[in-house]
Amino acid sequence: MPFPHEQSLHEIITRVSAQLEAAQLHFGHGTDNAWDEACWLVETLFRRHAETAISAESVFPQAALPELEALLEQRITGRIPLAYLLREAWFAGLPFYVDERVLVPRSPLAELIANQFSPLLKKTPGRILDLCCGSGCIGIAAALQYPQAQLCLSDLSADALAVAEININKHALEERVSTVSSDLFDNIQGKFDLILSNPPYVSEDEYRALPDEYLREPELALLTDAEGLDIPLKILRQAAEFMHEDACLILEVGNSWEALQKALPDMPFMWLDFEHGGHGVCALSKAQLQAIQA
Ligand SMILES: C[S@@+](CC[C@H](N)C(=O)[O-])C[C@H]1O[C@@H](n2cnc3c(N)ncnc32)[C@H](O)[C@@H]1O
Repeated sequence: MPFPHEQSLHEIITRVSAQLEAAQLHFGHGTDNAWDEACWLVETLFRRHAETAISAESVFPQAALPELEALLEQRITGRIPLAYLLREAWFAGLPFYVDERVLVPRSPLAELIANQFSPLLKKTPGRILDLCCGSGCIGIAAALQYPQAQLCLSDLSADALAVAEININKHALEERVSTVSSDLFDNIQGKFDLILSNPPYVSEDEYRALPDEYLREPELALLTDAEGLDIPLKILRQAAEFMHEDACLILEVGNSWEALQKALPDMPFMWLDFEHGGHGVCALSKAQLQAIQA
């Protein structure tokens, strides 16, 4: 039903939130509840349509009402993550262009980047690799946190790299951030002070049980093998060769963390805690990775 004219943002958000809630959607792509998602949708359309800054007295622009209704309809009937509909996701407080070619950014690594990986790094990293970069959100946020660093963003998917390029341009980082098409480390050159990776790690069983919203994301971004360990194990096996002596590998494996620990009982995994949610992220030094290989 169309919204009546001249409604405050609060009124609109309340209605949208109720509709999202009633539709029993899954919220896991940038928000975890209907109210936050309604705020995100309404604020984004306000920003795109209104000519004034947002305030408590703001009225929702009438010109944006048809778009609001169309997006709501697509979100509800298509179970499409809002980030894809808006062509925008927020990560580490930064906006990123996204579409169905990439995973919607949501890695807990954002919190580590904001805290400059304290206390994991012995010195400011000069060269950083974002392996399996998708939209480039992790590498780009790290580049903005370390203004002197050179960043390499790599992915197997040409589609993902095209989106990463859009985001490199969006944040004007062309001089310090480059992309490489690579199956894990195959085409990676040189050594790094920090390797960041949120690779595919979802097991087949977990994938089959995921809500529809996740099936809108590229399968290559989520699934690896039946156990969800194939790519994380390859990264653990190969990373040391691409690390400087004091370098650190930060690897996200989500719910596969227990299976990974079982598969490598001697690996001294340091599983990190997060203030803002998330789990299954470990930190390993080059020495630790080499010791296990030996
Ligand atoms: C979980 S997504 C993460 C994307 C991004 N880092 C983020 O946090 O939003 C994993 C990414 O790994 C890429 N990928 C899958 N297999 C790969 C491989 N063998 N080598 C390199 N990248 C791969 C996918 O294309 C996808 O972009």
